[in-house]
Amino acid sequence: MSLTPIGGLADESRRKTTTASLREKKFHHDPITCLTAYDYATARIEDEAGVDVVLVGDSLAQAMLGYENTLSVTMEEMLHHVKAVRRGVKNALLVADMPYGSYQIDASGAVANAARFVKEGGAEMVKLEGGEKRADLIRRIIDAEIPVAGHIGLTPQSVNVMGGYKVQGKSLGAIEQLMRDAVALDGAGVSCLFLEGIPREVAAMITAEISAPTVGIGAGPECDGQVLVFHDLVSLTFGAPAKFVRHYADARELMAKAVQGYCADVKSHQYPSDAESYHLSREAKAALDSVLDRKLAIRR
Ligand code: KIV
Repeated sequence: MSLTPIGGLADESRRKTTTASLREKKFHHDPITCLTAYDYATARIEDEAGVDVVLVGDSLAQAMLGYENTLSVTMEEMLHHVKAVRRGVKNALLVADMPYGSYQIDASGAVANAARFVKEGGAEMVKLEGGEKRADLIRRIIDAEIPVAGHIGLTPQSVNVMGGYKVQGKSLGAIEQLMRDAVALDGAGVSCLFLEGIPREVAAMITAEISAPTVGIGAGPECDGQVLVFHDLVSLTFGAPAKFVRHYADARELMAKAVQGYCADVKSHQYPSDAESYHLSREAKAALDSVLDRKLAIRR
């Protein structure tokens, strides 16, 4: 696939991220960068900026589709966006999030859905939520030649069980369970493990304990990599941000100003200008004028 870069030259020497290069990064303490993307343009911008891993997260539900939580987003909706992101990604590793209901019901259905992300969407890895109880399923998906990312801690698909979006792993028992989850998923062969919404100290212990690279969100700086939801990064959100979110731009304000400016220009007849309009050639204009003159003469 050859892509013309959007802004400046793409770094052709950049290596493609693979499951092996993620492990190399852990080994060399070279932080892994990961961002979500849900569309072609954002995916290209992230890929050309050198992001290592692009995740089509099920946060698609809130960020792009306006759902209240991640539970409603479907396989078909996820696939539609994975395909768009695939067209924008060249060097980054493309991870597709398995939506709620696509892997919790039965194992063969889960493997079939994971395969759809690879075959139809062009994903190179799938991600699913849950700890040690998912280890056997993860083995089956890996057996089908599909790399898997685990996701433990604050797992948004369990919002109703957790009773809200709460930081996990705060008591000794919960910490022990998180460690058991991480070790079980590492043993099952995950290529990386997303740690969401857990104390920094617990994420650091897990990162030191397991061989798979950890990618944290609200899990402190000791993880092997970091992930943020793109819409949080650029302030394209409507609610109060979580503690760990850092805004690198205010896209919402920028976009609102652009839309307001356009509306004002249309209403005041400032847009479009003559320079922004197409024109007839001199000959075509003369021919049109003579037809109009003849019509006027007939009417008179
Ligand atoms: O869906 C998502 O965006 C995610 C990240 C928060 C890890 O799963």
